[in-house]
Amino acid sequence: MDPKTEVIIQLKNLTKKFKFVTAVNNLNLEIYKGEILGFLGPNGAGKTTTMKLIASLLHPNEGEIFIRENGKLQKLSSHNKDYLLDNIGFLIENPEFYKDRTPRQLLTLFAKLKGYPRKKIENQVEEIVHMVGLSQWIDQKLGTFSKGMRQKIGILSALVHDPSILVLDEPQTGLDPKARREIRELLLQLKNQGKTIFLSSHLLYEIAEIADRVAIISHGILVACDTLENLESQAKSSQIQVELLNIKNMNDINEAGFQIDKLIQSFLSEPIRYNKDSGVFELPFDGDPEKQYKILQILVQNEMKIIDFTVSKADLLETLYLQHISQSDKTYKEFQKKAIKVEKII
Ligand SMILES: Nc1ncnc2c1ncn2[C@@H]1O[C@H](COP(=O)(O)OP(=O)(O)O)[C@@H](O)[C@H]1O
Ligand SMILES: [Mg+2]
Repeated sequence: MDPKTEVIIQLKNLTKKFKFVTAVNNLNLEIYKGEILGFLGPNGAGKTTTMKLIASLLHPNEGEIFIRENGKLQKLSSHNKDYLLDNIGFLIENPEFYKDRTPRQLLTLFAKLKGYPRKKIENQVEEIVHMVGLSQWIDQKLGTFSKGMRQKIGILSALVHDPSILVLDEPQTGLDPKARREIRELLLQLKNQGKTIFLSSHLLYEIAEIADRVAIISHGILVACDTLENLESQAKSSQIQVELLNIKNMNDINEAGFQIDKLIQSFLSEPIRYNKDSGVFELPFDGDPEKQYKILQILVQNEMKIIDFTVSKADLLETLYLQHISQSDKTYKEFQKKAIKVEKII
């Protein structure tokens, strides 16, 4: 089997209903060994509920969870959950740690609870605290820590017993850019050590920066799951931004716009726009890299004085993400309307 696609966790037709809402709706998802799978969706989409189901903190109404242990996928149940979950580290919904504990105390406690070999605990705790650059803080009380530092300790609490899988719920949310970057680097480092990471966020850019694949969830339904590359190439519309030398007044804009239009009109899906705020021409096209190349080639060959040419990755994905979410919003509303009608008839 291709090690890249060895399934390590499998969710099959997973459904979790609360009184008024189906938080997770017939979810099918596979997590591959060694990947970072980003779990992306707006607030209330069902991310935390899914992770709690994997952690056995909640029980599904329908469906099954399989976890690979000893080389084979085994169905999670109340009988084997301790055994199957031993190899997974969880950080779910910003935990509040006792403020008067130190990282050493907290992590030692977690390691003991998880049955990590006692003799190795001291070393392991020091080693992982060192890994996140907090050695000097190992005996300081958590109450004095910044949010980013606490979050790092939170991630360490999930991995202190050295599991090979990590399930992390919004580990970057609410952090400043520097702390976010540090967490991102930590996650990549863990991936390089061979760990599998299932990571949620409601912000696309947090996921886009590090995930190998992205699963998008909305109203409990999985609306897309693929590599970033494939998702991008599915994006229906895209935009090239071109900045030209010597565009100083309306006349220059009109003239250059007219010329670009004449040269590459046939490649575009909509008319050219000029963005006054950023000073760039925006060329809407279908995202096909072949066309992107042609457009650039033609503009250069015709001596357009291009000083900047970009197809913004984040924008493109953002478009795709919003497309998926709004489509699922629409379907959800229609479904609700029908459900209300049915209720009335009954
Ligand atoms: N314990 C609960 N009781 C009732 N409803 C809940 C409970 N937990 C979550 N929900 C609802 O389930 C939906 C999904 O929530 P959640 O999984 O927390 O979403 P996310 O983590 O993506 O923001 C939301 O509509 C939320 O209000
Ligand atoms: Mg959540």
